[in-house]
Amino acid sequence: MKLNRLVLDCLILIAFSKVYVNSSACYESAATATKVKSCPQNHEEWTKAAVKKGCGEISHACSSFEYHCVINAWRNETIEVCAPKWIVHGYVCAEYSQGGKRIQGNEKAACKHCPSYYPSNESFKYQECYEYVKNANAPLTTQLTTESTDMESTTQEIVYSSSSMTHKEGPARSFQNIESQNTPRHFTIIAICVAVGLAAIVVVFTVKRQSWIDKIFSYLKRIISQSEESTMGKTESVTKKIVEDPEIQNCLLEKETQIQDVFFKLNESSDNINSNAVSS
Ligand SMILES: *[C@@H]1O[C@H](CO)[C@@H](O)[C@H](O)[C@H]1NC(C)=O
Ligand SMILES: *[C@@H]1O[C@H](CO)[C@@H](O)[C@H](O)[C@H]1NC(C)=O
Repeated sequence: MKLNRLVLDCLILIAFSKVYVNSSACYESAATATKVKSCPQNHEEWTKAAVKKGCGEISHACSSFEYHCVINAWRNETIEVCAPKWIVHGYVCAEYSQGGKRIQGNEKAACKHCPSYYPSNESFKYQECYEYVKNANAPLTTQLTTESTDMESTTQEIVYSSSSMTHKEGPARSFQNIESQNTPRHFTIIAICVAVGLAAIVVVFTVKRQSWIDKIFSYLKRIISQSEESTMGKTESVTKKIVEDPEIQNCLLEKETQIQDVFFKLNESSDNINSNAVSS
């Protein structure tokens, strides 16, 4: 009955998230990645640098191809790159992952003034992220940094070619990057599927038990079957709500933190069912 549909929905969701995750690598971005001495400091500079980079004129098979100036995975270089925009969450800086071939959050680069969610194409708003690079290079290259502050333009000459950069970030590190972003999402989906499945079993069990009681107390049958009808109506609408609620759909895809809310809701609804069963 309903259980089959739930399982099917969960499988579809998992399949979709797999496709989505795998397609987030933008292979053409790697060739556009260049190390720069500094990144734009405001919207105007960002726009100018974007025009200069000309991401729009480069052919690609990515979902989009936008100018970015972000830190690298090791937080010791600033990189200009054309890549799809990424929603960075968790109060961290945006990075370009050479291995993952995409823009993503850098868990090791905390960003105090970032909002909990922001699009990576607005990284210039969070200048503190570029400080990581300055700090990483400060003790070694004091001369270089004073030199670079003298330069007026924000888009400086390319120091590394993209092909030489490809070797700098090992495949192990890049794999780790991808894993660390994907695992919680898959975990969330599976956890919620399990929760929904358990709730469905509880519902089925409650209804079954109810009808068993019916047979024993046959003289109460008419009254109980009436209340059972209303219980079944309720549980069905609750299950429907759980599956169709857009908020829960969102959290299936995005928010690990909302699992607890879902568990809570599921508990509540099964509590209701139980108390209904008891009271009848
Ligand atoms: C950044 O760090 C990585 C790993 O420690 C290192 O291989 C690379 O040379 C560093 N880059 C710079 C510019 O210091
Ligand atoms: C970033 O993308 C959003 C659309 O998601 C757009 O409204 C905004 O203007 C973009 N910002 C920049 C600096 O390009």
